[in-house]
Amino acid sequence: MDALDMGEDLAKVLISEDEIATRLDEMAAEIDRTYAGEEVLLIGVLNGAVMVMADLSRRLHTPVTMDWMAVSSYGSGTRSSGVVRILKDLSTDVHGKHLLIVEDIIDSGLTLSWLVKNLSSREPASLKIATLLRKPEAAQTDLQVDFCGFDIPNEFVIGYGLDFAGRYRNVPFVGTLAPHVYGG
Ligand code: IMP
Ligand code: MG
Repeated sequence: MDALDMGEDLAKVLISEDEIATRLDEMAAEIDRTYAGEEVLLIGVLNGAVMVMADLSRRLHTPVTMDWMAVSSYGSGTRSSGVVRILKDLSTDVHGKHLLIVEDIIDSGLTLSWLVKNLSSREPASLKIATLLRKPEAAQTDLQVDFCGFDIPNEFVIGYGLDFAGRYRNVPFVGTLAPHVYGG
């Protein structure tokens, strides 16, 4: 899917496919330097992190294994509540392993804070966070993000794994939607 397919649904391209690729190169190099050949278990948060996981992991020289978690935040509306339910847990025992959570976006940071607490209780050797995108509010929380692709404005974005009502995940760039898409 590309900008043409989106037609008038696309307001603007915020981060292009090329910009994402360049930044992922840099992030992968940083991650390789950090782990220096130690094996890492990449934990992708479904569904949004699928694209980042695929593209970031293929750039790494560090030996990795991969696992996935699906979580859902309780509560109505568009705001994250911080009360989280596990829809799909890991298939791996993480005890004593180096864990790197791979996220698409951190907004309030509430979901990820919960996930960090949950995974820490399983006694991994270490736990770090990589995210492609981060919004300003998240930057103000005490959540320590180890590898961050882009700090973006406080706007709703779609593409590169991120959806609106389940759609636009397969858009190769990160963009914003025209108001009529929300308005119906
Ligand atoms: P948080 O708990 O507020 O950090 O919410 C994190 C989750 O909300 C992300 O993993 C996304 O699934 C979703 N989310 C937050 N902001 C956006 C956005 O701009 N577009 C699409 N999904 C978003
Ligand atoms: Mg996510």
